[in-house]
Formats: sequence, C-alpha cells, structure tokens
Amino acid sequence: MAFACDGHIGWAWHETAGVADNAGMRGKHVLLGVTGGIAAYKSAELVRRLVERGAEVQVVMTAAAREFIGATTFQALSGRPVRDSLWDANAEAAMGHIELARWAELVLVAPASADFLARLVHGRADDLLATLCLATTAPIVVAPAMNQQMWANAATQANMSTLRQRAVQVLGPASGEQACGEVGPGRMLEPTEIADLVEPLLIGPGPFSGKRVLITAGPTRECLDPVRFVSNRSSGKMGYAVAQAFRAAGAEVVLVSGPVALAAPAGVRCVWVESAAQMYAAVQQELPATQLLVATAAVADYRPVEVAERKIKKKAETLSLELTRTTDILASVAALAQRPYIVGFAAETDAVEQHAREKLLRKNLDMICANEVGAAKAFDCEDNALLVLWRGGGRAELARAPKRELATALVALIATQYQARARSEPQPERRQDLG
Ligand code: CTP
Repeated sequence: MAFACDGHIGWAWHETAGVADNAGMRGKHVLLGVTGGIAAYKSAELVRRLVERGAEVQVVMTAAAREFIGATTFQALSGRPVRDSLWDANAEAAMGHIELARWAELVLVAPASADFLARLVHGRADDLLATLCLATTAPIVVAPAMNQQMWANAATQANMSTLRQRAVQVLGPASGEQACGEVGPGRMLEPTEIADLVEPLLIGPGPFSGKRVLITAGPTRECLDPVRFVSNRSSGKMGYAVAQAFRAAGAEVVLVSGPVALAAPAGVRCVWVESAAQMYAAVQQELPATQLLVATAAVADYRPVEVAERKIKKKAETLSLELTRTTDILASVAALAQRPYIVGFAAETDAVEQHAREKLLRKNLDMICANEVGAAKAFDCEDNALLVLWRGGGRAELARAPKRELATALVALIATQYQARARSEPQPERRQDLG
C-alpha cells in the first residue's frame, strides 16, 4: 500500500512486505561536515540516524576532526569513502569538489567548531569543507559545539549573528556539563535531535506547515495521598512519536504530557502535567490558535474523591476507594462551537472496531485511532498497529510497525483527511484560528 498527501510528494508512505517505512529523507543527499571537537564522536551516531531515515550521507572531515575520530568509522556507517582533502587526486577524479558541492541538497556541519564557524564567516576556502560551503547553493546548517566561554566570546557571537543573517541555520548548542568539566551552553545537540530538526529542512514545508497541533500524551496520575497515585501503563511513546511526526510534517507542535520517561522531542514545546485536571487546564489554555487536537493520552477516567493529606496508614484488612469521574478532555473540546479538527485514540481490549466507531460518534470526533491493548500490546511497548476510522465511513488499517514509523504513516493519513475536509468546507473559518 502507498499513499501520498496532495501536493506533497515528500510525504509518501511506502509499505513493503507489511513493513511501513519512514520515507522522509529517502534518497536525499546530505553532506555532513565534521570539524575538530570532542563532540565529533557523536557525529558517528548522527550518520546512522540520517541513514536510517533514508538519506545518502557523504562525510567530509577537517584535519582537526581526524584528531578526534577515524575516517573508517564514518566510511563504514555511511557506506561512502570519507572526503577530507582538496588535493586528493583519486577522490577528485571520482567526484570533483564543485560536483560534490552541487550534489549536496543540505550541508550539515556537526560539530561546528568555533574555528570553523569563523572560517565560514570569512568565506575561507582553505580546506575541502570550507570550500564546499562556499561553492554550494544548498542550505547550510551548523550544530556548534565548543567550550562555553568560547561560545560566549563576543567574536563567536558576532560570527553567529553574521551567519544567521546569511540564512545559515543554527541548531543549538545545548547547555549542560561539558567534556572540559565546565557547565554552560556549548554542547552539541544529540544526534536524534539534529536529525529531527534537519528532516523538515530537507523535505520542504510539509503538509502541516503553518498549522498548530496540540497533542496530549502519556498517562495521568491521580493522587490518593502524598505518596500514592492511581495511574495506567501508558509509556507516552505513541504520543511522542506522533508529536515528532507532526513536527517533521511542518507543524508547530505543543505536547501536553503526563509523567513519562521520555526526552522532549526536538522542536516541540512541552507542557508537563500530572493529573487529568491539570491536563484539562493545559489543553484549555493551549487551545486558542490550534487547528488540530490529537489526544493520545491515556487520561484517568476516575480520580479519588478525597486526597488524604497524610500517608494512608495500613489499618483495616480491606480498603475501599471512592472514585469520581474526571472531565473528558476530548469530548469537552469537541463540544465547542469553534473547534479544531479532532483525532482521538481508543484503547480497547475487545470489539475494537465496534467500540471505536461508537466513540467516534459519541465524542463527536473527526477521526479515531483504535489500539488493541492488553498483554504486551500497544501500552508500554515499541511497536503498535492502528485501526483508523473517520467521519463519513472512512477506514484504514495501519500495519504493525515501530511507533515512529506508524506515527509517520498516521500523520500522512490525517493530512489527507484534514485537507479533504478543508476542501469540502464552505466556511473556512470553522477550523481557523480559535484565538
Ligand atoms: N480522553 C480524554 N479525557 C478523558 C478520557 C479520555 O481526553 N478524561 C481521550 C483519550 O485521550 C482518547 C479518547 O478520549 O483520545 C478515548 O479514550 P479511552 O480511554 O479509549 O476511552 P474512554 O472515553 O475513557 O472510554 P472507556 O474507558 O469506557 O473505553
């Protein structure tokens, strides 16, 4: 099976032998420049992250980078001999440096050292990587990595502002503990974060460019006393993957997340909550100017009527808890006169399609994605399968796949339905900004 969203060729989703695969960067040419810094060891993983998303990666190292990491590692991971010299007659005969500059659809320099950034500012052509940056018409993206004082130095900051003015994209740096023992801004972003951020740059604006998507994810916790709570097995992985996929599809993403053990997806604004009531309040607060709400969260349906101020002591043989309903966040948004396009999730242990269809109608949703949950299924595991139903009788089955791939396929499907709905609506305001 394959489908593509109207007018967005980059958003095709392929399925081969039942395996959905993220076609995001398929066949895209990434020239990865590695310069001299301790973060160069992370560039090896970055090659893997880019290759696994389908990119063809040509690594170009500076002389200083070779002091930190061997070319063989990059050659093995990228499947291409590393280039590091303007004067390598054999490599130039295979593909001259001007040809290489034209081959690149994106030049990514990670790590970008203070020295390399300064050379970039001055338009130097004193090694292969700097020459390629001068000769290419492809977008240039840099992920700086250096000692925090070097980053803070006025010279580096002036260089960064010049590069930004020239439309060089700057990713990071992150703040934290550095290899030199100091703490502050200057750490290279993590490889997955870099890959997430360059993906939309490579594949164009994406079907959700200019749209704001609000996503709920993870479980909620409903307190019993200061040390105990009622919760569920949701890991948040599906919701986080959906957030990442919407970001890669160009959306501005706000993720309202219950407590999970996951890192915030790159480029996504996270709002952390604990209880169903907090999640409800956060969704209400973030709703203005939102075009899509995707509710993946496993929100507690009930919370304790009373929360003990002190730890409940073990006295009687049995203990009964009185629980009361929480507000249904999804249904409350769906009941609004001016509402976003709404995608709900349904966690079911039985009669999946029947229950999901009933929820689609009862909660007045535009689309529902049903999971079969239960022993080692959907909750707290790495892969999942979805049955997707939408208004008007539409139905699609997304085959079992890792959650990240499934999320990409789901976002492509939502895009087709969202666009179809927008085309069929005489009143464009209905799903316009709510704020
Ligand atoms: N949901 C919500 N607020 C709640 C409960 C659920 O927003 N208080 C949302 C979930 O995020 C999901 C959808 O409603 O998108 C369906 O959740 P699910 O737990 O499958 O269904 P329930 O409505 O809770 O019904 P039931 O537990 O009886 O199946």
